[in-house]
Amino acid sequence: MAVDGLELRSTISAEGQLRVALEPIAIDAPGPDEVIVRIEAAPINPSDLALLLGPVDIASLRSEGGALTGAILPARLASVQARMGQALPVGNEGAGTVIEAGVNVQDLLGKKVGMIGGAMYATHRKIAARDCIPLPDHATAADGASMFVNPLTALAFVETFRNEGHKAMVHTAAASNLGQMLNRICIADGVPLINVVRSEAQAQILRDLGAKYILDSNAPDFREQLTELVAETGATLAFDAIGGGAMANTILHAMETAEARKLTAYNRYGSFTHKQVYIYGMLDTGVTTLDRGYGFSWSVSGFLLTPFLMKAGMETIGRLRARVATELTTTFASHYSQTISLADVLKPEVAAEYNKKATGEKFLIDPSL
Ligand SMILES: NC(=O)c1ccc[n+]([C@@H]2O[C@H](COP(=O)([O-])OP(=O)(O)OC[C@H]3O[C@@H](n4cnc5c(N)ncnc54)[C@H](OP(=O)(O)O)[C@@H]3O)[C@@H](O)[C@H]2O)c1
Repeated sequence: MAVDGLELRSTISAEGQLRVALEPIAIDAPGPDEVIVRIEAAPINPSDLALLLGPVDIASLRSEGGALTGAILPARLASVQARMGQALPVGNEGAGTVIEAGVNVQDLLGKKVGMIGGAMYATHRKIAARDCIPLPDHATAADGASMFVNPLTALAFVETFRNEGHKAMVHTAAASNLGQMLNRICIADGVPLINVVRSEAQAQILRDLGAKYILDSNAPDFREQLTELVAETGATLAFDAIGGGAMANTILHAMETAEARKLTAYNRYGSFTHKQVYIYGMLDTGVTTLDRGYGFSWSVSGFLLTPFLMKAGMETIGRLRARVATELTTTFASHYSQTISLADVLKPEVAAEYNKKATGEKFLIDPSL
């Protein structure tokens, strides 16, 4: 049976005007291995905001004829050239109830599922059954809304840590939703984790979770403290969500200083121990500064979940997904400060709030509201 619904779409014009609006959609019957899900919860994550609002000037947001409009920052216009004129659906992940199921996946009918695949800021989504995970009986749609992006990324960090043979790792913006999950995993799995936060309130969140190593990047002796913890733990791996600025550089300096202490004689090339920083976010959209004052055994790379999973293969994906499903309301629990409707997403004053990406202030969209 066909289903009529609504979907949020984001468009940037060639002139640099953003327009986000609710558009009608007609979903036809599911194929043999597909389901139609009535979406009941979808988180607003930083990567969703990059598509939803693009590099918009937040102060320019207006409400026009039911749509949210705004001006793209002129300096960032070139970065959105490839999407100009396209009405793009938004929302990486979500959860809801299966209201129709293809002949091969009838067992999912009526079940609550978590899903990944885009276009989740909508009333309904037709999706391949393999991109859904049935929720445990006790779990709500809100519990299952964020069961892919942050949980699998946090688990991917630990996989990388093991695969590359590190002794400890550093994580920045560490009190984020993802950072809290990473702490729970590392505590359970015995992985030494150095958390870098930027306020005492964030440090307290991680202390309450039982984190052992927490540093505030605003402390006057942050660099010295980081070097000492890196030396104590032997950390040669870092995941940096900030991206812009000098954080990756600071971490590499700390790692090299700690490694150089082990050298018995001066080496003008620095230590030969490889030091790896993965930049996996762009919380700071500015330029990344690297002064290269840490020898030659280092690397700074981007890190993205999807290519990691494609490389890791089906066995690993299955293992990680199973852990998320089992520990959905414990290790991988997400906290939301507000639940809003699809129409609320289009209000400028609400957009200014959900765009903050502040600690503990993640928004959940409930399209059934
Ligand atoms: N590469 C991938 O595959 C992948 C996958 C999943 C997530 N991510 C990234 O992971 C990061 C965390 O996501 P999330 O959903 O867990 O975020 P979140 O819960 O919304 O938290 C964001 C955190 O970042 C902090 N922050 C914001 N701007 C900052 C800056 N310029 N410098 C330092 N800290 C800053 C915030 O602290 P304040 O309260 O102090 O602002 C807050 O603690 C995001 O960057 C996201 O894009 C990447």
